[in-house]
Amino acid sequence: MLAVAVLAAGKGTRMKSALPKVLQPLAGATLVERVLASAGNLLPERRILIVGHQAARVEQRLSHIDGLEFVVQEPQNGTGHAVQQLLPPLQDFAGELLVLNGDVPLLRADTIDQLVASHRSSGADVTLLTARLEDPTGYGRVFADAEGQVSAIVEHRDCSEEQRCNNLTNAGIYCFNWRKLAAVLPALSSDNDQGELYLTDTVEMLERAMHLEVNDCDEVNGINNRRQLAQCEALLQQRLREHWMDQGVTFIDPSSCTVSETCQFGTDVVIEPQTHLRGTCQIGDNCRLGPGSFLENAVLETGVTVVHSVINSARVGSNTTVGPFAHLRPAAVIGDDCRIGNFVEVKKSSIANGSKVNHLSYIGDAELGIKVNVGAGTITANYDGVNKHRTVIGDGSKTGANSVLVAPITLGKGVTVAAGSTLTKNVADGALAIGRAKQTSKENWSGAKP
Ligand code: UD1
Ligand code: CA
Repeated sequence: MLAVAVLAAGKGTRMKSALPKVLQPLAGATLVERVLASAGNLLPERRILIVGHQAARVEQRLSHIDGLEFVVQEPQNGTGHAVQQLLPPLQDFAGELLVLNGDVPLLRADTIDQLVASHRSSGADVTLLTARLEDPTGYGRVFADAEGQVSAIVEHRDCSEEQRCNNLTNAGIYCFNWRKLAAVLPALSSDNDQGELYLTDTVEMLERAMHLEVNDCDEVNGINNRRQLAQCEALLQQRLREHWMDQGVTFIDPSSCTVSETCQFGTDVVIEPQTHLRGTCQIGDNCRLGPGSFLENAVLETGVTVVHSVINSARVGSNTTVGPFAHLRPAAVIGDDCRIGNFVEVKKSSIANGSKVNHLSYIGDAELGIKVNVGAGTITANYDGVNKHRTVIGDGSKTGANSVLVAPITLGKGVTVAAGSTLTKNVADGALAIGRAKQTSKENWSGAKP
């Protein structure tokens, strides 16, 4: 039997943020979601989140996670006090309790699996993860013998100068024998620099405490401030890019690009410099993104090219090119073999296969058929100040430069719109629509001789 408890009640004072620390985002997921995911392989019997500071907000943010229990710690009097809150809900529980600090987001699931396996095979009362850090400043120091038996953990601020030279640090990840821990928890004292109850003090009170040193020190990075947040983001981004490189994605200048955890890429995708993908993007084979593009929740089929453009919650069909300087907004659905060119904005519109909107257009709340050619500067005037209206343009129609289509309006198939027209009425299939003042020329106006 295994229970997992994540400590997430602290304010995160050192972050200087209105957002609770455990809700800070890292590559598209919050710290606490990452911590929960690191214990995901184990299929624990119980999963408990200890909340306190802005408890309701944290609970609400995580309410989508099935079977997660919330236990409130009020006030927040240290990590030992946080775990004391488990005494009532785990009264009848017998088994291991895995305790994870809510601010250690880079742990790999394999590492947690190893910790639990090592704990089970040694039969210790507690096994904790440690790392030898080049710069252990701020972390608790772990005092252990050559066999891996731990005698004490001393917080950085409580250490003597000499103790600070020990660079074996506590990662804040522990596998306890719950019954043994429960027996000593009530006896914790707050005799330390912060006047708090420290979970780390239980190792001295338990008979057999062991530690397991991680191979990759980056995994145990704890986040207490924004510098550490930025360092973890950089490490995570590197991990993600390397993962996708191994899957057949080329990054021309990797460190200038960021991707989120929930992006998916096909093979032979090329990501040019300064390109960023957020949310759940799905990028098909042979797409070429960037330089200088920003995609969020974008779905691109195969062979799509995007240059210096922004795509947000939109879909793009195969072999379509987007940009430079295009903006596809939510619910834009572009077909195959289309061309969305310079300074074109598309919102909540479908554009069918083979259509072109090449220059300086706004297409909003519209439905364009196949092989429509939208002339430079064509605007769908979709908004009357109160409501949005639809524009429909049939297959094979062409709009001249600088046309304004005042919605609601339907242009049939094979329509031609004369340049400079402002249209307010529907146009039948095959018609030429001209909606502009007739040109008059005044002869000899300037007095200039021909
Ligand atoms: C803690 C450890 C330290 C370890 C480090 C690893 C203790 C006393 N110290 O220090 O040995 O090296 O983590 O990153 O445990 N929390 C609560 N309730 C509280 C206080 C904290 O739930 O009353 C939660 C916080 O939200 C956070 C976690 O516990 O997720 C750790 O708290 P934090 O204050 O960051 O501890 P550190 O000083 O980093
Ligand atoms: Ca911390």
